[in-house]
Amino acid sequence: MSRTPIIAANWKMNMGPKEAGAFLSAFKEENLCECKGVEKVVVPPFVTIPAVAEALNGCSCLGIGAQDVSDHDNGAFTGEISTAMLLEIGCQYVVVGHSERRQYHGETNAYINKKIKKALAAGLVPIYCIGETLEQREAGKLEEILRSQVEEGLQGLTAEQVAGLVIAYEPVWAIGTGKTASAADAQAAHAFIRSVVEKAFGADAAAAVRIQYGGSVKPANAAELMACPDIDGALVGGAALKADSFAAIIRAAGV
Ligand code: 13P
Repeated sequence: MSRTPIIAANWKMNMGPKEAGAFLSAFKEENLCECKGVEKVVVPPFVTIPAVAEALNGCSCLGIGAQDVSDHDNGAFTGEISTAMLLEIGCQYVVVGHSERRQYHGETNAYINKKIKKALAAGLVPIYCIGETLEQREAGKLEEILRSQVEEGLQGLTAEQVAGLVIAYEPVWAIGTGKTASAADAQAAHAFIRSVVEKAFGADAAAAVRIQYGGSVKPANAAELMACPDIDGALVGGAALKADSFAAIIRAAGV
């Protein structure tokens, strides 16, 4: 089965509406609508999303995602943003369970599972982030951690739902550190994640689900990572803050 790679820019807490406008002007100059065979997504802070949607002006070659979503529909949840609100401002994707949310906001697999279910019910594509810390890797717990993140985070989903979502494997020790996992290590982790999906949801879901790599992806290492059979794109932080380097990573994944 051939899977369309997906390259997403996670801007994290960077890029207000004005800065995003400048980014998008530069990005348009890269003419990436011509770059086929790769899905492109930008994931701005909530307040920047309307400006991005307006600047895209209906151009569907760049999708829009949010960085988080509430596990509730509406009501007294101060500071939260619902799936309906994300749809209203033009999102098609939502990142859930990023390691920074797990680390700084105590998000657990069970809690993230509720968000994934809300996103799917609303028709948003979840980008579900998983990955081990250096401590866990060095203690030989890589597979145990990835297995529990996949099984608990996706618990209760149908095979069809799993087939349509995106998993982002982001080893925590590679995020923002300049230390990328080697292509061989990343491929091994991705193959393992796919095997866990296969056991839980069957061969069709495992063959269809896209698994992105994230963690210090840059133009210089993107092509090698994207050439791995189980790596279906990238979730890019720092290198996606500049239009030219984000564009170079997209080209590395395109045909
Ligand atoms: P960096 O690309 O800056 O390492 O960030 C990766 C990441 O966390 C994307 O979600």
